[in-house]
Amino acid sequence: MACKNCTNCGQPDKIDKIVNKFKGDPTELIHCLQLVQEEQGYISQDAVKKISVSLGVPESDIFSVVTFYSQFTLKPKAQYNIEVCMGTACYVLGADKSIKKFEEKLGIKVGEQTEDNKYALCQSRCLGCCGLAPVISVNGQIHGKVTEDKVDEILSKLK
Ligand code: FES
Repeated sequence: MACKNCTNCGQPDKIDKIVNKFKGDPTELIHCLQLVQEEQGYISQDAVKKISVSLGVPESDIFSVVTFYSQFTLKPKAQYNIEVCMGTACYVLGADKSIKKFEEKLGIKVGEQTEDNKYALCQSRCLGCCGLAPVISVNGQIHGKVTEDKVDEILSKLK
């Protein structure tokens, strides 16, 4: 398939280039998936089809591998990964209420991602900064003293 950056260069797209490196060798499936994951941030349906054709591995086998290993994902990563600490210090200061508020505002449950892939919500164990409890992390950046009444403010900054 032609490159998606333009319609007339005739160059293979990036996924084709990756897949073609392995010259139809099915033993390179994991390596191929790792490179595709690195390129796209996930394994797209389109990539699964290309890998299947090129390496001669049934799509069902590719899905089995992708779902078995946690390093692979079939969904694009969310733009904002919101992690709410549910360690003891954060929990006793109302982290569970913040989670409920995030769920309500985003229309998703913990462990889910919004349809537009903008927000993912998860909970974690102690993030190692209990003095700032309750704590959340957004894409690895720590926000302290995040009580349920701060959820709107946090989300308003993530546009
Ligand atoms: S319990 Fe939340 S940072 Fe330690």
